[in-house]
Amino acid sequence: MKAGGSQLPATVFVFICNLFFVTSHQPPDLQVCGRCSGTVSNNSQVGQFCFFSLGRIDGRCCLNNDNTSDPKRITGLDLSNCSLAHIKDLQEASTAVIMDLSLNPIVNISDTTFEGFVSLNYMILPLDLSCPGGEAAWEKVDVENGSRVCRDQINLCNQTGHLSFTCPGNSLCAPYGPGFFQCSCTDNFHGYKCVREGEFPTFQVFGPLGAFTVALSLLLWFTQRRQVKRG
Ligand SMILES: *[C@@H]1O[C@H](CO)[C@@H](O)[C@H](O)[C@H]1NC(C)=O
Ligand SMILES: *[C@@H]1O[C@H](CO)[C@@H](O)[C@H](O)[C@H]1NC(C)=O
Ligand SMILES: *[C@@H]1O[C@H](CO)[C@@H](O)[C@H](O)[C@H]1NC(C)=O
Ligand SMILES: *[C@@H]1O[C@H](CO)[C@@H](O)[C@H](O)[C@H]1NC(C)=O
Ligand SMILES: *[C@@H]1O[C@H](CO)[C@@H](O)[C@H](O)[C@H]1NC(C)=O
Ligand SMILES: *[C@@H]1O[C@H](CO)[C@@H](O)[C@H](O)[C@H]1NC(C)=O
Repeated sequence: MKAGGSQLPATVFVFICNLFFVTSHQPPDLQVCGRCSGTVSNNSQVGQFCFFSLGRIDGRCCLNNDNTSDPKRITGLDLSNCSLAHIKDLQEASTAVIMDLSLNPIVNISDTTFEGFVSLNYMILPLDLSCPGGEAAWEKVDVENGSRVCRDQINLCNQTGHLSFTCPGNSLCAPYGPGFFQCSCTDNFHGYKCVREGEFPTFQVFGPLGAFTVALSLLLWFTQRRQVKRG
């Protein structure tokens, strides 16, 4: 099974540190929308999505246009035909539902780039790339118009699906992007495997799909516990 299990634990660990210490001061402007010139064309897949979801186009992004919730929430990202060779730092677009990275000379993309992208349900990629998390992380993978199309992220916590993972007692499983899930301690439990009761904030583990899941989870439970204590 090809999946996100081959990530270095260090990468995931760095991500977690980012989650806890960096997200509080994000730049005010959405830089990812200006990563390439031009705007979303309204006959592209992202343009159509934006039109029908009543979104607002800002550069290469479709933004949520509902003024009752976050107006800067990215729902679509179209970096098609941008001459991009490397794709990284897409965290601003982690709320995206649709993303088009086609017609770029991208060689590879790390699966961890899309960790936390829980809403992503439609991705268009250059043909040479596989869907993040592997085919097992998506309901449907097709080749259309010379691009790879990944549709509908699979929920790894779904007990009725054949790929389901069980979180330890006192914790709940939740999807965490293509090929990823997280276990969060339920109220009042924290620490390694959520066995200690106390007042620490919700405590999370990110387990990529695959053979390293258990070892990685144990490492993360431990390192994260130390971070929480120090912080
Ligand atoms: C495309 O954009 C034009 C104006 O820029 C608008 O009149 C038209 O309705 C749009 N079409 C679709 C399908 O979104
Ligand atoms: C949202 O927009 C509507 C009309 O544009 C306005 O009447 C309303 O006050 C706005 N709500 C907020 C929370 O800004
Ligand atoms: C890609 O961009 C180039 C130059 O920016 C343009 O000439 C070409 O038509 C574009 N291709 C597509 C499929 O949009
Ligand atoms: C992409 O491929 C290059 C060479 O093929 C390799 O050095 C690099 O580590 C790869 N990057 C990722 C994110 O996998
Ligand atoms: C492929 O092209 C067809 C015809 O132009 C279009 O209807 C379809 O939406 C395209 N698919 C994608 C994924 O761009
Ligand atoms: C769980 O998986 C089953 C079968 O794959 C599917 O029919 C069902 O919709 C899924 N439920 C959720 C909540 O994703």
